[in-house]
Amino acid sequence: MPDPTHFDRHADLYDSARPPYPTALTDRLAALGLLRAGARALDLGAGSGQATRILVDAGMEVTAVEPGRALAARLQSTLPDVEVIRATAEEVSFPDGSFDLVTIATAVHWFDLHVVLPKLHRTLATDGRLAVWRTAYGDPSVPPGPFRERVQRIVDARDAPPRRQPDETDTASWARALETGGLFRTVHSDEFAWSIDLDADDVRDLFTTFSDWTAAEAREAARAVDELGGAVTEHYLTPLLVLEPVR
Ligand SMILES: C[S@@+](CC[C@H](N)C(=O)[O-])C[C@H]1O[C@@H](n2cnc3c(N)ncnc32)[C@H](O)[C@@H]1O
Repeated sequence: MPDPTHFDRHADLYDSARPPYPTALTDRLAALGLLRAGARALDLGAGSGQATRILVDAGMEVTAVEPGRALAARLQSTLPDVEVIRATAEEVSFPDGSFDLVTIATAVHWFDLHVVLPKLHRTLATDGRLAVWRTAYGDPSVPPGPFRERVQRIVDARDAPPRRQPDETDTASWARALETGGLFRTVHSDEFAWSIDLDADDVRDLFTTFSDWTAAEAREAARAVDELGGAVTEHYLTPLLVLEPVR
């Protein structure tokens, strides 16, 4: 079963192995007026701070919530001006109207939305926004090349049923989940396709950070890269949803 503490066990690798979010995403957040210097932002499930950094670089006043001890410590040391709270999204509460922006980056699938959404509804300012994005490590619109076929074979060889959520890139279904209960309304939906060249070590390290991959499977994927010439181009997709609280 996917385990949310997986990331904390690979905290050092996490920051170096996971590619940063595409600049097109940051540009869109800025164009939507969500990144405002001095505004108050809350990043939930912040990990090592890959999304938090976007908010800090924009000059926002940032609070980050991360349950993993090692990840929270790493985040605090690299972004010392951020208020880091070691807790789950379900555990934390803030006074009403505390934030202008709440971000959830590649983490919303770990949350109990029945608990978290009402809290976010209260904690957002009246004109605040919730921005939810997630990188899918495999763009389904790109026909699989030899490396992706090898990756699929590794996944198919598992005893357990496939562990990846089928609707990972189904933005409409994520929007419906976030609108459950009528507390939020989607005001913007987007997706960013991007690609990256990876060598065998990059693949081993990156795949080791995936919560549904074992270390042995990650090494097998790295061997596949070597056998395919030492480098592969991977195609990824980062869907973005922006929601406003319904008042
Ligand atoms: C894939 S990582 C994403 C980290 C970071 N947001 C990023 O974009 O790189 C998922 C993060 O969610 C955190 N997480 C898992 N369950 C959580 C929960 N219930 N509340 C808050 N964070 C949680 C994990 O500890 C991990 O840091």
